[in-house]
Amino acid sequence: MRFDTTITGVFATLLIAFLGYSFYLYADLPQQNGPVSPQVAQGKLLWQQHNCSACHQVYGLGGYLGPDLTNVYSRRGSDFIRGFLQAGVNTMPAFHLSEQDMEALLAYLKNIDQSGNADPRQFIPQTYGHIVQR
Ligand code: HEC
Repeated sequence: MRFDTTITGVFATLLIAFLGYSFYLYADLPQQNGPVSPQVAQGKLLWQQHNCSACHQVYGLGGYLGPDLTNVYSRRGSDFIRGFLQAGVNTMPAFHLSEQDMEALLAYLKNIDQSGNADPRQFIPQTYGHIVQR
């Protein structure tokens, strides 16, 4: 009987610790995702349809032929991106997008640019394992 009480006590302690720690971690996530505009959603669809991620990463995930594009919008600006997509280069095909699709893709790139920084050197690790971005 005494054994059962000890096991129950240990289990309850671990459960409380687990729930407390989970609450602590998830109650204050550094990044909250809100709903995106239909234009941004369309841009993401185009990103998938044209398979940009075969060669590019977003947040470090994707292909490695081209550079990570998470922050390309603030690094290069919309005119540069527009020109790059219309003309292409040796290693990247030109994409002949309509004006509406181009705007949507730019809106998507602007949106992911605002969601954080892809460069891990910018991350500030916190004591409990999560990161904060500048
Ligand atoms: C076949 C592989 C491939 C695909 C598919 C591809 N790209 Fe690229 N992209 C590249 C490569 C390689 C570069 C780097 C070229 C260079 O700088 O000479 C690049 C560069 C870029 C750049 C300029 C980045 C910078 O900082 O200079 C942008 C913007 C870009 N791509 C957007 C896109 C978008 C949007 C799509 C999808 C519609 C796409 N790419 C699809 C290979 C690809």
